[in-house]
Amino acid sequence: MSKIIIANWKMYLSHEQALSVSKALVVFSKRVSADKKIVICPSYISFKDVVDIFRDSRVSIGAQDIFWEERGAYTGEISALDIKMLGGEYVLLGHSERRKNFNETNKMIHDKTRICLENGLIPVLCIGEDWEQKKNGQRDYVLIQQLNEVLEGISVSDSNKIIIAYEPVWAISAGGGVHASPEEVNYVQKVIRQVLLDLYDNFIINDVFKIIYGGSVTPENVKEYTDIQNISGVLVGGASVNADTFNKLIGAT
Ligand code: PGA
Repeated sequence: MSKIIIANWKMYLSHEQALSVSKALVVFSKRVSADKKIVICPSYISFKDVVDIFRDSRVSIGAQDIFWEERGAYTGEISALDIKMLGGEYVLLGHSERRKNFNETNKMIHDKTRICLENGLIPVLCIGEDWEQKKNGQRDYVLIQQLNEVLEGISVSDSNKIIIAYEPVWAISAGGGVHASPEEVNYVQKVIRQVLLDLYDNFIINDVFKIIYGGSVTPENVKEYTDIQNISGVLVGGASVNADTFNKLIGAT
């Protein structure tokens, strides 16, 4: 099964650094086998230049977020329409850093998902429980609620693609994360699949949805996740901002 590897560069790199990492990766990407899909999510500042650097490669570009309206009086926001026009194909939505630092709600993420699909962009919906919720045995409840509130009322056809990224907040490296065990990720993908089965017709789920894992993924542990049958790839933060490390990670999947 083909695997997708999504790099979330967050706000780690300066513009100059983003360009130099991109130039190194574009060379590496020529040797990546066709069954691996690479997606880079740079900052908005570097977005257009990174698109240009990867233009003739098989690497796709994604945004780290978008706003839920296409145009209007929304100071500081970024439109899905513009991301699409500039050559973006994917958008990260509902990342735990946005939920935490900007109080993003499931309703906002629902609206952003809708505008992504309307503009032909592929949403990468991040869901995950925090340490407190995990400790209190609320993991499944939290994931089911996040998914239901984000996806309820979103109708899909087989031309749509949606990626669900299971990113336990406690596993993200910036939060001192410990990566989740492959057994846990395998269990969670079944919970996610069950929610999708409650919301959508069985026959469409495999065409539209992919489930991936994110949280302290490194070249050393990536294969543990990509080897899980129903896990279609990984979302990588810290280990994606250095070209050699990310290249090693891609090679190890
Ligand atoms: P990490 O980040 O790989 O640095 O843990 C993943 C993410 O936050 O998307």
